[in-house]
Amino acid sequence: MNDTARQRSLGVCYYPEHWPESQWAEDAARMAGLGLTWVRIGEFAWSRMEPEPGRYDWDWLDRAIATLGARGLKVVLGTPTASPPRWMVDRHPDMFAVDAAGKVRGFGSRRHYDFSHRGYRVECAKIVTAMAERYGKNPHVAAWQTDNEYACNETTLSYSEAAKAAFQDWLAQKYQSPDALNRAWGNVFWSMEYRDFREIGLPNLTVCEPNPSHVMDFRRFASDEVQSFNKLQVDIIRKHSAAPVAHNFMGAITEFDHWEVGADLDIASWDSYPLGFLSDRIPADAEHKRRFVRQGDPDFQAFHHDLYRAVGKGRWWIMEQQPGPVNWAPFNPDPLPGMARLWAWEAFAHGAEAVCYFRWRQAPFAQEQMHAGLLRPDSAPAQAFGEAMQVAQELAAMPVAGTARANVALIFDYASDWAWEIQPQGRGFSYFWLVFHIYKGLRRLGLNVDILPPDVADLSGYKLVLAPGLFSLSAPLKAALAAHKGTSVLGPRTNTRTPDFAIPVPLPPALPGLDAVIARVESLPPDVPVPLTEGGALVHWREKLEGGATVVESAEDGWPALVAAGKLHYLGGWPDDTALTRILQRACAAEGIETDPLPEGLRRRDTDTHRFLFNYNPVPAEWGGVSIPPAGVHWTVREPGV
Ligand code: GAL
Repeated sequence: MNDTARQRSLGVCYYPEHWPESQWAEDAARMAGLGLTWVRIGEFAWSRMEPEPGRYDWDWLDRAIATLGARGLKVVLGTPTASPPRWMVDRHPDMFAVDAAGKVRGFGSRRHYDFSHRGYRVECAKIVTAMAERYGKNPHVAAWQTDNEYACNETTLSYSEAAKAAFQDWLAQKYQSPDALNRAWGNVFWSMEYRDFREIGLPNLTVCEPNPSHVMDFRRFASDEVQSFNKLQVDIIRKHSAAPVAHNFMGAITEFDHWEVGADLDIASWDSYPLGFLSDRIPADAEHKRRFVRQGDPDFQAFHHDLYRAVGKGRWWIMEQQPGPVNWAPFNPDPLPGMARLWAWEAFAHGAEAVCYFRWRQAPFAQEQMHAGLLRPDSAPAQAFGEAMQVAQELAAMPVAGTARANVALIFDYASDWAWEIQPQGRGFSYFWLVFHIYKGLRRLGLNVDILPPDVADLSGYKLVLAPGLFSLSAPLKAALAAHKGTSVLGPRTNTRTPDFAIPVPLPPALPGLDAVIARVESLPPDVPVPLTEGGALVHWREKLEGGATVVESAEDGWPALVAAGKLHYLGGWPDDTALTRILQRACAAEGIETDPLPEGLRRRDTDTHRFLFNYNPVPAEWGGVSIPPAGVHWTVREPGV
């Protein structure tokens, strides 16, 4: 199938094992009647698939798939490895992850496994093989999902014996000799030198902070463990099935490198819970949280859509879409009527192929009984049911998935998030939120943004490239920046560490042709801004730049804040909204990129054929001569060239 021919479609997450079999046929008929294409099943059903070690029971799943298939529904089949059954933990009592305080994370919920436990991997390989053999050629199984939400509930890092042994092997492979490791980590400091790889522990339970190089390697190792765990399953599935393989990633989760895991998948997908995220995850002020309490942050979803579109090499889905109140955030408001439709359309405008609501029917039992579905527990339609139906009808008029190529690229790197989490140097410094802050600034100007990986080798399609906070520039990116004809803005903190986590000499940022060094660095409390001469300020983070580079912006105290060599810029601090908007507008103007500052809470997204407006406000928004109601979506056909 070529890219332009991919269709937009809707789906739902369903748990046949939660409901009497007598209900399945009616459920399937209602799903098809609603206009759904996809039904994701299976991802937590291991205790029903293999009730006892080695004794499989596939009959019920055969019938569930057949019932859905009979209505023309396509199944996404999930491997159940995120919820190993009770017997499994008796067979492998040491398979649990251990937290940084040394506490075992036991049975009774989910994700109770350690990525490094080799015995558990063997068990996973067995169940995935059995499933792939049985369903690999099933005509109704049209896609696969591996596991469920790697890293959910902070389950990537484990401080277990299994992790320690695997980490030691990983280090031995990487460094070959303890001396090489000692040199790379600077272990002469505080007499931390090792004589043997088996002496090296995990970087927890130390008296004070562990060596950042040690932690950084542990983070890389833990990420590699997720990648290889996932690849084990993908390889097995591919032996038996031609259907695409996906994983459902999450929001603002950076514990493993999604670019690496995504490289092994056919489709990237993510689970979008806009109200849960605003309440639980997004560091916004109280006024922002109040205004968007029933709509979600206007940029958080879009950021992940753009990120996962790139992680999926163009192919991406929403595997779980919030339908109503969730159960897991500090507060769980009811979405404003219309939001279950708006969220779906925002995803489609960013190129999503499918949006699947979570879940079909609200479960009256167990942990998620307060989590809404498309249906209430009594099977009557819940609020999102009608909105999903409206989207299904609207899709008929705009069936083709795709989006427009952006002029602006933003680099996103997981390792940089680990680096600055390890060494924030000032409370509240977060790479993820720095990148998101820049993204928000671009979205407020009405721009489409493409997010790119840190090893991107070709920037030629982009007029403006931003790379804030990248701790170490990769060789391909360095070369791509050198060859780039457009404007680039790097910094703060970009290229300021070696891959081993040391300060390079010559001093950073060491960018080709840019005569500038970071002479001093300071972090500041949030209420101590560094005002800039043109208005706005640097906040949290400030680098004092020396050298002969052209000074584009200065702080009121006389230090350069933004310097340049031709079109290559380095920004020595975290700009507040005012400074950021000015810097972005100036860069866009230099490249002839049209900007259109949008009213608060209104966002725009172009596809090749349409221009979409999304109103995240609880009140109507006026723009371009139209009035868009709260939670409203407005689209127009794009004139060629607009
Ligand atoms: C997701 C998870 C689902 C369900 C959902 C509830 O994180 O993948 O299984 O728990 O949250 O919002």
